[in-house]
Amino acid sequence: MNTIGRISPFIVLVLTLLCSASLCAQSYAGYGIYDTDFLPPSFFKSNREKLLRQIGDSAVVVLYSASEHTRNNDVEFQFRQDDDFFYMTGCNEPSALLILSSNPIEVTDTTGTHTVHEILFVESRNSRAETWTGRRLGPYGAIKVLGVESASTNTEYKQALRRALSKAKALYIPLPPEEINGKIADMVRDIEQTTRSMQRSIEIRTPLHLIRGMRQVKSAEELKVMRKGVEISMEGHRQMMRSCKDGMYEYQLQALFEFVGKDRGAEYTAYPCIVGSGENSVILHYNTNRKQLHAGEIIVMDCAMEYHNYATDITRTIPVSGRFTDAQRAIYNIVYDAQEEAMKLVKPGVNYYKEVTQRAGEVIRNGLLQLGVIKDSADYKKYFIHGLGHPVGLDVHDVSSDGVLKEGEVWTVEPGIYIPANTEGVDSKWWNIGVRIEDEVLVTGDGNELLTRALPRKGEDIEKTMQERGVVGK
Ligand code: GLY
Ligand code: MN
Ligand code: MN
Repeated sequence: MNTIGRISPFIVLVLTLLCSASLCAQSYAGYGIYDTDFLPPSFFKSNREKLLRQIGDSAVVVLYSASEHTRNNDVEFQFRQDDDFFYMTGCNEPSALLILSSNPIEVTDTTGTHTVHEILFVESRNSRAETWTGRRLGPYGAIKVLGVESASTNTEYKQALRRALSKAKALYIPLPPEEINGKIADMVRDIEQTTRSMQRSIEIRTPLHLIRGMRQVKSAEELKVMRKGVEISMEGHRQMMRSCKDGMYEYQLQALFEFVGKDRGAEYTAYPCIVGSGENSVILHYNTNRKQLHAGEIIVMDCAMEYHNYATDITRTIPVSGRFTDAQRAIYNIVYDAQEEAMKLVKPGVNYYKEVTQRAGEVIRNGLLQLGVIKDSADYKKYFIHGLGHPVGLDVHDVSSDGVLKEGEVWTVEPGIYIPANTEGVDSKWWNIGVRIEDEVLVTGDGNELLTRALPRKGEDIEKTMQERGVVGK
């Protein structure tokens, strides 16, 4: 065989692999979906299958999308999907409903009549409405893009629900939150009434503990998305460090962070940016960000982006002038040491709320005693007033856990010390020093990986980065 003859099967194989890869990572512009790195339909399918296995025979699950919320008059907040619904569907549209049934249900949809275990109900396509509010999937798109077995318009769920419930012993449906409203609220109320009016009694239970149990451990695919959010947020932090100077305003640092975050493709911030300088550095969730920065102050910058529904949570504390004062550095180093010591303990089987938290508390207690900020060792709790950290995922404060760490979980480690002005018995040199250092760790098989390791964290590394004036990436 000549060279071309030998090479051509190889080229065909490469082309086939490239094509199949691009099919997986396809954009669906016709449905208003342009990103190609969303979690794949197989991830959500596998979540649905896991849930179906957990509910056993003769049970039905109904999950529904988040409500839309008015900001003022006829302006709405940007829609943000419910995390549990998203985790099961990948659907980011409002007024959508998922029915899962352990017994097969016969349906007729855009692909014909068949027997399925899952149906997604979505808004129908409507060119008039879409001209105002954007493209929708519609049932055909829901099957094509999200890979659900069946989909219909959201006006058609009743018949399918009755069919599914006709043989069911249990209905798993989340209790409607108090603030539920709009079309989805009517659908949920109707489902409750339908269930109660059935001839047989059907037990109503919540599925949330089952879904949230699954959400604790992140899959490799979720971690890929989360790493991207971390990478983008770290760039935003670097930008704030490199731009900060005396006379700027807190909101200008916030603006730079948000610019970088959105410029790199993140959709939202994971929570309102906290940029607190001087007297605001000691307010944990300060987010009005209106004050001017003055040399000599310290700034707590708790800012992070949300990428493809997954949150990030990172804090850096920096000196406005680019150099920590002696007092600020002393407090900073205690928080840094507490974080280092705590992170060393993060591994599977360890209880975060006990062992890891206790270790950080010890370091802070000893540090404050040594500096003379406290005289009584129990008093350290007056200055380290929040928990050491929490899981991160679809929510910034992600699904709760008993604290016993498992491989694949992502946690923040975020010790802090906050000393407000006029604190009785504390020398004024310590006043208005707030320091929080917050990083994300992934629990691995035998320890942890610091996901945010590329972002300067040591006091001197922060000072060095602050001297690299300029724009990140330029
Ligand atoms: N950004 C909120 C928190 O650190 O928990
Ligand atoms: Mn946090
Ligand atoms: Mn935070």
